[in-house]
Amino acid sequence: MCGIVGYIGKEEALPILLEGIKNLEYRGYDSAGFAIVGDDKKVSSEKAVGKVAALFEKISGRSFPGKLGIIHSRWATHGGVTELNAHPHSDCAGKIWVAHNGIIENYKELKKELLGKGHKFKSETDTETIPHLIEEEIKTLSFQEAVRSALKKIRGTYGLVIVNSDEPHTLIAARNFSPLLIGLGDGEYIVASDAAAVLKYTKNVVYLDDGEMAVMTPSSHKVFDLDMNHREKETHVIDWSPELAQKGGYANFMLKEIFEGPEAVENSVRGRLIAKEGLVKLGGLSDSLPLLRDAKRILISGCGTAYYAGRVGEYMLEEYGGIPVEVDVASEFRYRKPVFREGDIFLAISQSGETADTLAALREAKEKGVPVMGIVNAIGSTIARYTDAGVYQHIGPEIGVASTKAFVSQVSILALLTILIGRQREMSLVTGRRIAEELKKIPDMIRRVLKQNDEIAELARKYQKFNNFLYLGRKYNLPVAYEGALKLKEISYIHAEGCGAGEMKHGPIAMIDENFPSVFIAPQDSVYEKMISNIEEVKARRGPVIAIATEGDEKIGEIADDVIFIPKTLEMLTPILSVIPLQLFAYHFGVLKGLDVDKPRNLAKSVTVE
Ligand code: F6R
Repeated sequence: MCGIVGYIGKEEALPILLEGIKNLEYRGYDSAGFAIVGDDKKVSSEKAVGKVAALFEKISGRSFPGKLGIIHSRWATHGGVTELNAHPHSDCAGKIWVAHNGIIENYKELKKELLGKGHKFKSETDTETIPHLIEEEIKTLSFQEAVRSALKKIRGTYGLVIVNSDEPHTLIAARNFSPLLIGLGDGEYIVASDAAAVLKYTKNVVYLDDGEMAVMTPSSHKVFDLDMNHREKETHVIDWSPELAQKGGYANFMLKEIFEGPEAVENSVRGRLIAKEGLVKLGGLSDSLPLLRDAKRILISGCGTAYYAGRVGEYMLEEYGGIPVEVDVASEFRYRKPVFREGDIFLAISQSGETADTLAALREAKEKGVPVMGIVNAIGSTIARYTDAGVYQHIGPEIGVASTKAFVSQVSILALLTILIGRQREMSLVTGRRIAEELKKIPDMIRRVLKQNDEIAELARKYQKFNNFLYLGRKYNLPVAYEGALKLKEISYIHAEGCGAGEMKHGPIAMIDENFPSVFIAPQDSVYEKMISNIEEVKARRGPVIAIATEGDEKIGEIADDVIFIPKTLEMLTPILSVIPLQLFAYHFGVLKGLDVDKPRNLAKSVTVE
């Protein structure tokens, strides 16, 4: 969580830092602040509570000269949302400034010790211990050595950028379990927690690994481990254009990204399907084919939307792949002491590739010797690098906090995996071909669903007066019911619950009356008749019903109050279509309530704390 950017080079730092942090705001946005070091060794800093715009407003018309600086946008973990708790934090002398993403677990002990030595703290944060620790160490060591020595005393996670006004030509960055990369410019370096902050200036980046620190001057950069051994680092070229990270004419990122659903599926599937032979070629898994062939079970883990994609994958892989699958929310996985067996494969699903819970689950499996694989969007992210093998989503950055295009892409990749694993087992050529052919048609089918955007907006208007919703599905569309409810909750702060339609009679139906609408995901599939009976049960209790149904289904229109149609496709692929109206419904609901749908309150795009 939290966005951090650091700059050192030939340009004025502040405009570059502000531009960078604007692009990272989705990582956290309850307060923001910066510190700039001038050539005269003077530090100027400003902080503001609220979104980055509040900081912009506060500094408007003022100048903050200096070619070295750090900036931060916060998602609070320790200490309330106040200006004093906003980063960067400094030492007693106001010389050493630190912006931090992560959690310092032993900060209480460290703080006690530092208070005992006379240090004065201004904030309630764990982060503030770092500049004070460095201040203590720098009494006998160089800046670089002092940082290293301080880091050795810290237990926890961090992505850090650090400046010292006594050294106006040095920027230090360090990483432990919180993402950090260095953009390599021409006579300048931009350190950031995410590539979105550096793309405007350079496409060449170096990813820091855990336990590494980088020391930069305007003309050089060196990476070390915490024992000061030099680390040779590879330069990666990121081919995302800065425009990709912009809104492209849409009112906001969420709508743009929902409308990018068709391209997301195309990009995730492109070059990977050999439809005629009913086969799939996944480059990132080519060395793992024997492992997959011998696998006896797949353990899938992820959080939120990625977890729901995994639940769709479970149905696909068991029904068509012929392999047992277990899916866990990553935040529970390692705490329930999972029992691993010979032949297990662990599959992490994560758009950002940085979700702390997913990473922790992955580590748990890897440490127990289980081969680990991933479905990840962010290239070079921690999860992508930590897995033994994997499949990239190739959908460009997802900026809106609510995950939308990532879900359709993840489910498409799980369909590819199903063909791959299925064909290694009992799946016939005909079935492999059929799924492949149908998957190719999905992008155009999504486009057809998107054409109903205006009708869905109208529906959102009609249902604005309700404060509770039940989302119901069965089999492949049960995870979609959960996902639809999650979207409505996070975007419009409306209470929504996902529920198996078969479970409804075991409790949730008690809530139904004329003020409690239900959204039924009921395409014409193997559980269609059961869904129709469930709709009847709700109607018998005067509950309003919205149904997501297959084009041409006239029967459902007679019982549901409102129907949104999706094209007919294979049952296993329906979630890629049925989720779209639910994304749009949540989107319009939020917009009509006047909410910031790209940055819902209390959330952050990439949840890098547990
Ligand atoms: C919901 C949402 C979250 C994420 C979850 C996992 O709209 O965005 O539930 O899906 O935090 O994030 P990734 O996929 O980055 O691991």
